[in-house]
Amino acid sequence: MNEDKLERLAARLRGSSRVTILTGAGVSAASGVPTFRGTGGLWRQFRAEDLATPTAFSRDPLLVWEWYAWRRELIAGCRPNPAHEVIARWSRTFNRCMVVTQNVDDLHVKAGTANLVRVHGSLWELSCWVECGALPWRDEAVPLETLPPSCPACGGLARPAVVWFGESLPQHAVAEATEACECEVFLTIGTSAVVYPAAGLVHEARRRGAFTAEINLEPTPASDAVELAIHGPADQLLPDIAKRLTP
Ligand code: OAD
Repeated sequence: MNEDKLERLAARLRGSSRVTILTGAGVSAASGVPTFRGTGGLWRQFRAEDLATPTAFSRDPLLVWEWYAWRRELIAGCRPNPAHEVIARWSRTFNRCMVVTQNVDDLHVKAGTANLVRVHGSLWELSCWVECGALPWRDEAVPLETLPPSCPACGGLARPAVVWFGESLPQHAVAEATEACECEVFLTIGTSAVVYPAAGLVHEARRRGAFTAEINLEPTPASDAVELAIHGPADQLLPDIAKRLTP
């Protein structure tokens, strides 16, 4: 059944020059990065309220940092998989291809993706918790030199530069992601499509006239809203579609 859908999607992509791809944790699953909500997902083992909110951080910054340090260590050894590689290639070969990711692992960066919008930040960037005015900075040391780390500008507490529950997304990223909804084909890949505002992008793209498709291991709330829902592993389906695009 997927065969027909894959061909339909490939046909759409062949005739398009403006493509937008929204990605979630499922795209990195084959690289060994844990997802959040599926089997073995992080939110099945940990409570987000204890680890991924500003309140949790102000209550116990060391506990939160230990959890982020553990994730950094885990992800430092992960490499991009064929899904990242196809997306990176498409980001450079379509006339205009935007890649909006909810992932904080930076595997799209490692794969060489162009036009990347990271709406939830990055595990490899830090920012000043007291907002002294310092710009976020990159620190890829594993392990980090000190826990909790401090801001190089003011010496105060540093935080992971990721978006926590209850926080707004960076304004520039939201603006770029919204603008990217103006496209011919919008693909939502490897996301449970439950976390807003990212989950709303596919609806915005459809409203603006894009052909919308989902590639995910299992059905999600977006499945009924898209023109084409294809279920299976992104690391296998994307190379299959890519092959159909090459003459
Ligand atoms: P989730 O863990 O919620 O969803 C991952 C989706 O990927 C699930 O629907 C899986 O079925 C699917 N999946 C797993 N393996 C796959 C594979 N090999 N190929 C295709 N699909 C696969 O992750 P997100 O939707 O990314 O927020 O979660 C959204 C946000 O919630 C995250 O960015 C994070 C989290 O709290 C922040 O970090 C701010």
